[in-house]
Amino acid sequence: MKPEIIVVSRIFERTQEKLDREFACHKLYEAADRDAFLKQHAPRVRGLATFGAPGADAKLMDALPKLEIISNFGVGVDAIDLVAAKKRGLIVTNTPDVLNECVADTAMALVLNVMRAFPASESYLRSGYWATRGAFPLTTSLGGKTLGVLGLGRIGEAIAKRAEAFGMKIRYHNRSKKTVPYLYDPDVVALAKNCDVLLVATPGGAETSRIINAKVLDALGPDGYVVNIARGSVIDEPVLLKYLREKRIAGAGLDVFDNEPKIDPQWFAVENAVLFPHVGSASVETRTAMGDLQVENLRLHFAGKPVKTPV
Ligand code: 8YV
Repeated sequence: MKPEIIVVSRIFERTQEKLDREFACHKLYEAADRDAFLKQHAPRVRGLATFGAPGADAKLMDALPKLEIISNFGVGVDAIDLVAAKKRGLIVTNTPDVLNECVADTAMALVLNVMRAFPASESYLRSGYWATRGAFPLTTSLGGKTLGVLGLGRIGEAIAKRAEAFGMKIRYHNRSKKTVPYLYDPDVVALAKNCDVLLVATPGGAETSRIINAKVLDALGPDGYVVNIARGSVIDEPVLLKYLREKRIAGAGLDVFDNEPKIDPQWFAVENAVLFPHVGSASVETRTAMGDLQVENLRLHFAGKPVKTPV
């Protein structure tokens, strides 16, 4: 008998196929009546496969008395109620490391695209303006500028390595100083003051909620850029929209937003921002590796072994 699990939302097909091979999967996202679905499967469901934003709240955990493990597809577990999971003694796993390089690539793409305005320059060409209006306006170089990494973890370090190769200087802020060859700033405002590009790579959740606020953006100043590959919740989004519109900072590169995927439509008209639809880890190779790790954690647990990547 295959262990029974609930799959919270529709996912990468290749991962779903692997889950189907090893587990009896009940797809919550296909249920017409969520409560009836949970009631029907609760007596047998021992695992939950979840995916970034949908996460798992206490209500879902409470509906599943036989639940033992929540296996997340993604490194960020801010949408999983970890306090409720701990109270229940549930194992929670995520998919660290396998996405570091891919997300760091995305971060550098945002830095490049917002500073050099490549997307706007391409639109300019496609609109036929090159011949009619002349050369595209000059932009800003990366070389010699300072990247301020907020959250120098595994992903932050992969970004710093890339930024160094682009000739950027690196500073960072974490709760505590690390043994790295980069200058440390004691708080976010100091980091913003001392850098040209503030790169947000910190975990989401209550602790980092809205830590990028008006004070931080004032410190960054009218020549500064903010790039976010972490979670929308880290930035005070209405304030950022206002600062971009009023040119109180130079630009923003964002892969994450409040209320994804139904983001604030005001974003569609902001010209000094480069906007990606949360594609940080979205390559076939990386998503395959993330899915494999998610499946492996479930497999190990149901074989009575320790999971590979507990949170
Ligand atoms: C994923 C992410 O796109 O790993 C994370 O925390 O934000 C992304 O890599 C997301 O979790 C997939 O659902």
